[in-house]
Amino acid sequence: MPLVSMRQLLDEAAKGGYGVGAFNVNDMEQIQAIMGAAKETNSPVIIQASRGARQFAQDRYLFHLILAAAELNPEIPIAMHQDHGNSFETCKSAIELGYTSVMMDGSLKEDGKTPATFEENVEVTRKVVEFAHARGVTVEGEIGVLGGVEDGHGAGGTGLEHITDPDQAVEFAELTGVDALAIAIGTSHGAYKFTKKPDGSVLKMDVLLAIHKRLPNTHLVMHGSSSVPKDLQDVVNKYGGKLKETWGVPVEEIQLGIRNGVRKVNVDTDNRLAMTGAIRKVLWETPEKFDPRDYMKPAREAMQKVVAQRMSQFGQAGHAGDYKPVTIAEIAKGYADGSLATKPLVSAK
Ligand code: G3H
Ligand code: 13P
Ligand code: ZN
Repeated sequence: MPLVSMRQLLDEAAKGGYGVGAFNVNDMEQIQAIMGAAKETNSPVIIQASRGARQFAQDRYLFHLILAAAELNPEIPIAMHQDHGNSFETCKSAIELGYTSVMMDGSLKEDGKTPATFEENVEVTRKVVEFAHARGVTVEGEIGVLGGVEDGHGAGGTGLEHITDPDQAVEFAELTGVDALAIAIGTSHGAYKFTKKPDGSVLKMDVLLAIHKRLPNTHLVMHGSSSVPKDLQDVVNKYGGKLKETWGVPVEEIQLGIRNGVRKVNVDTDNRLAMTGAIRKVLWETPEKFDPRDYMKPAREAMQKVVAQRMSQFGQAGHAGDYKPVTIAEIAKGYADGSLATKPLVSAK
């Protein structure tokens, strides 16, 4: 099956009342782990690459690896997504390469660190929407700013500094016509999200519920959604790692989000932990080994296990064959003739 539109994937998820995991990739083993999990659980999937990933793997390697995944798994709908695009040019280059979806993260300026003004965010996101929709490509925008820094990207802080204002979320969705809206509710990228199991004082599910009430048909996106499970932390530390005690986003909170408009759930850190733990274990227990396959195979298996578990928890498992993917050209027509609404439904406060 060719790569499919993320918009279609999310529209179908909304109909079915489930969420779709968006998993970050940098290399072949991670792509294979995701596809192994998608096959095992019969799930549609979003594979996403950050700017750092595109640089690390080189654009054409990564793109062709994902095309290979689509070729080898024709029964699985796959959307290929640019994660945290920092500028119009980044999104344009992904679209020209063949990505079927882009995130224009205009919540930060182009440096990927400094919070942008609302007006700057609207302007750049609107520009990406016009370019992308004309080519049938989905756009995710972000309003509010996440915490943490990953690979130089992020405003830092705890995630509580720039929580999304529901009124601004409505205005942003109306002004930009984005297909999916990432919101800031206290989560951060990376392993260090919370210093104890999060409650409502640090993980603002009430804000998510308020936004969903105002924008009942808008696909919401939760970034920084790794759960950072203790068992994965323990494996890393048991074999020489030095992770400090930390808490992620509990799966039950993500599931509450999914019951309230969250359709895309971004997970990277849990997979990084799973792979690192597996690699450390092999190298620790059998230091004489030096064939990368001896540790990359267990690493790939460990990631597949986490991804398959998340696919079941988010509810996408079993839904790969529910619908016939339409072509990107048809999606472009839908944006042009207005059948794919770009004006959100807005409800009263
Ligand atoms: O946005 C955060 C993802 O975890 C990607 O991280 O920029 O280090 O590839 P990265
Ligand atoms: P985590 O660091 O929680 O996995 O978040 C990943 C993410 O939001 C990618 O955009
Ligand atoms: Zn993110």
